[in-house]
Amino acid sequence: MSYDKQKVHNRIKKILYGLTGITLTDNKDIMISNRIDKLFRNTKYNGDINDLLDMVESGNAYVTEFINTFTTNKTHFFRETFHFDDLKDRVLKDFIDNNKSIHMYCSASSTGEEPYSMAMTVAQANNDYHGNIKASIIASDIDTNVLEYAANGIYKFSKSSKEFPNWIKPQEFFKRRVQKNLVGEEVLIKVKDEIKRMITFQVMNLNDPHYPFKKEEFDVVFCRNVLIYFSTEDQNKILKKLFTHLKIGGTLYLGHSENPQDLINYCKRIGQNIFVKEKEIF
Ligand SMILES: C[S@@+](CC[C@H](N)C(=O)[O-])C[C@H]1O[C@@H](n2cnc3c(N)ncnc32)[C@H](O)[C@@H]1O
Repeated sequence: MSYDKQKVHNRIKKILYGLTGITLTDNKDIMISNRIDKLFRNTKYNGDINDLLDMVESGNAYVTEFINTFTTNKTHFFRETFHFDDLKDRVLKDFIDNNKSIHMYCSASSTGEEPYSMAMTVAQANNDYHGNIKASIIASDIDTNVLEYAANGIYKFSKSSKEFPNWIKPQEFFKRRVQKNLVGEEVLIKVKDEIKRMITFQVMNLNDPHYPFKKEEFDVVFCRNVLIYFSTEDQNKILKKLFTHLKIGGTLYLGHSENPQDLINYCKRIGQNIFVKEKEIF
């Protein structure tokens, strides 16, 4: 089907920004073309792209499919492991020493590997530091497909995978199942219920003007590898909103190529993209 590529790409960027706040930069033409193919597959729509975009833009149909198509969901267990080392040996050790329960937020949870890594870290900290503290984790994403996948908690496992740090024994947190398929066998791992129970998954758009949480609700906020999709101005807005829901003394973890923008004046950097909130923004 022929269409004016540049016009359609610009239109998609505008709609995507309006719906999610995601800013697609100028060098994303190949990616956008591939995602247009994916959008047709996901919607099973076989008409004109501009008609499809009309329906998305007016909110009449295919909005969810559009959002799910244009998000990038790359993640893995214990990504940037040093954050989980810090969570276990500094944050959770302190909560265990004081026998306090902990409330955490994972703000772009994608297919679930990140919040499950947080939950496994709690279980391991309880083992290592002889504690029995309770944890609750809210995990949100804008993409409904990845949330469904996450809530299911079933992943492919490869022996060569270096995803797990040496202080995690996957067999303690997953049930293992071998499944035959067309190319042979694959190993599936299913998150055990005691890990799953710590997490509540919910749809949420970080670009919304307000978040459905209380002021200073969380002890820990993970916001990793999602700010990179937003303009600097919008990153600042998101960070400020997240910050109001973090307790003073609470910890914010950011992704490797993200920075705290204006928050730097209100928190202390204590490690690689690890920030402790010192005061409120007035
Ligand atoms: C690259 S993944 C990062 C996953 C995980 N935090 C990590 O570091 O491995 C980015 C996630 O951000 C989500 N996302 C993008 N825009 C969003 C928005 N406006 N609100 C909430 N989530 C969003 C995407 O759906 C995607 O799952």
